[in-house]
Amino acid sequence: MNDTVEAVAIEARPKAAAVYIGLLAALAGLMFGLDIGVISGAEQFIKADFGISDVVLEHIVSWMMLGAAVGALAGGWMARSLGRKRSLLVGSAIFVAASILCGVSWSVGSLLVGRLILGVSIGMLSFTSPIYLAEIAPENIRGSMVSFYQLMITIGIFVAYLSDLAFSYSGNWHWMLGIIAIPGVLFFLGVFTLPDSPRWLMMRGRTEEATRVLTRLRGNPQIVAQEEQEIAAQLRIPQHGWRMFLQNSNFRRSVGLGILLQIVQQFTGMNVVMYYAPIIFKDMGYQKEAQMVFTAIVGLTNVLATFIAIWLVDKLGRKPILYIGFSVMAIGMAFVGIMMHLGIDTRVEQLFTVAMLLIFIIGFAMSAGPLIWILCSEVQPINGRDFGIALSTLTNWIANFVVGATFLTLLNSFGHAQTFWLYAGFNAVFLLITAMLVPETKNVTLEFIERNLMAGKPLRKIGQ
Ligand code: BGC
Repeated sequence: MNDTVEAVAIEARPKAAAVYIGLLAALAGLMFGLDIGVISGAEQFIKADFGISDVVLEHIVSWMMLGAAVGALAGGWMARSLGRKRSLLVGSAIFVAASILCGVSWSVGSLLVGRLILGVSIGMLSFTSPIYLAEIAPENIRGSMVSFYQLMITIGIFVAYLSDLAFSYSGNWHWMLGIIAIPGVLFFLGVFTLPDSPRWLMMRGRTEEATRVLTRLRGNPQIVAQEEQEIAAQLRIPQHGWRMFLQNSNFRRSVGLGILLQIVQQFTGMNVVMYYAPIIFKDMGYQKEAQMVFTAIVGLTNVLATFIAIWLVDKLGRKPILYIGFSVMAIGMAFVGIMMHLGIDTRVEQLFTVAMLLIFIIGFAMSAGPLIWILCSEVQPINGRDFGIALSTLTNWIANFVVGATFLTLLNSFGHAQTFWLYAGFNAVFLLITAMLVPETKNVTLEFIERNLMAGKPLRKIGQ
């Protein structure tokens, strides 16, 4: 009886440690989301306060994405040389400083600089956190853990929508932008309690520390020894980053896949809704207050539907979820387009169109939202992982910038219905891309994926 209890305790302890560490690291996603969500509500007040044009406002919105692109690259270098933990510390310290700067900004110039630096921190965090999570998670919950990171992004967006709504009554955009420093400080303090990733420690030759961390994470000495052997075997191949990219065509394939996956994620059209939801609801004929309420409902739907991914990702697998998600998104976008084409006049038509937009959100949140980050963290070989993920994260931000910066122009030049159909079409194409290029990585170790990649297996088969 006692033996059983003890055995269970031994099994449970390391898992709890892994889960705690994973949950804490995933809070980086909260910052990511706060930042994406916060600006939409602040825009009109900033515009009125500084008396600026739409073009200047667009800069204020989008310099964050540019900064994030730079931060993703810097994160690639930092996570390798300083380690994952210290990168998270640096990223969150910059986040706190930049959000205070945005909050107290006294001119367009200072706000632009604040947004840019804020972007740098988000780029670093959005690069380092998924890597760290994939490296510390046992493979049977790796997908769920990275999904949890996405969940935190969606919670961040939702909380920012709510906070914007609250501050919108006073119109105080300084508080809207500054208040996110508080979760930043808490995250910074939390990161101090995290261990460094065992893989990174071994890369640096700090084997004893790696064993200690792995023991804390996995418990079972046999599993620890086996994982150490696998990591050590990979580290014997002295290739990395740019050199490996030039020399190894298999690595170029995984880097290309990561880049493509992030383009796919952004061109689903999700951020069109994230940044412009109030305008879309205005198009449907809703007044100001209803626009804000529906925007909050979009945020909440995004949070709730992410649970579907967390629940299914390690059960159903990556590919089936992506097939369902892209189909649902294509249908949602197509119907929003059809309704805009036919004209939205009655209350029923309005509600039907809102429902279709929410269907689209569900499709994204249950699939491409978390899944793309998971896949990007899984497909790169260890020696080129930082480089590969830095490039795919960089792509995420550049594509994010392109989508965000073209939506209004598309609406005006291409037409409202046509713009939504365009995104519906993209999602249909992504079904094909999934079939042809995306591997199923459920329940296999990162080392197994790497062996298959390097053996030259087609990308869609590197998880089998
Ligand atoms: C994307 C973001 C997006 C968010 C929405 C993330 O996975 O990378 O660009 O705003 O999901 O929930």
